[in-house]
Amino acid sequence: MEKIQWQNNLSVGIELIDNQHRKWISHYNDVVESITSQQNKTQVSKTLGFLIDYTAVHFSTEEKHMAANSYPELQEHKAKHDSLRATLANLVKEFEEEGATTQLSEAIDTFLGHWLIRHIQEVDIKFGEFVKGKKIVIA
Ligand SMILES: [Fe+2]
Ligand SMILES: [Fe+2]
Repeated sequence: MEKIQWQNNLSVGIELIDNQHRKWISHYNDVVESITSQQNKTQVSKTLGFLIDYTAVHFSTEEKHMAANSYPELQEHKAKHDSLRATLANLVKEFEEEGATTQLSEAIDTFLGHWLIRHIQEVDIKFGEFVKGKKIVIA
C-alpha cells in the first residue's frame, strides 16, 4: 500500500475542491498508515470511518456546486461518485467480516487510491475547466 502525495498536477483550479482533495488524501493516508503499521481493528475501523464520512462530505460538495451551476455532466459525474460509494461500503463490510487482510489492502490501494487520482485528473478537472470557462466563483 502506498501513501499518496499531493502534487500540483492534482489541482483542478478550484481552491475549495483542491483543499477537500488534500484533506481526502490525508484521511486516505491515515488508513494506509493504520493498516501498514498493523494497528488494531478498532484503530483501522476508525480511520476507515473518517475516510468514508469525508468522502460523503466531499462528493456532496461537488454535486451541490455542479447542480447549482447547471453543470451538464452532473449525472455522469454523480454516477461515478455513486459507484465509489458502493465500493467503499463493500470494503468496509469486508473489513468488518475479515479484518485487514492482504486482499483488503490491495483493494484499498487499487479501488480507492488509484481511483481517486484518476477521478481527480480525468473527471473533477473537467468541472474545474467548466467553472473557469464560465468565470464562476466557488466558495
Ligand atoms: Fe473530487
Ligand atoms: Fe468528483
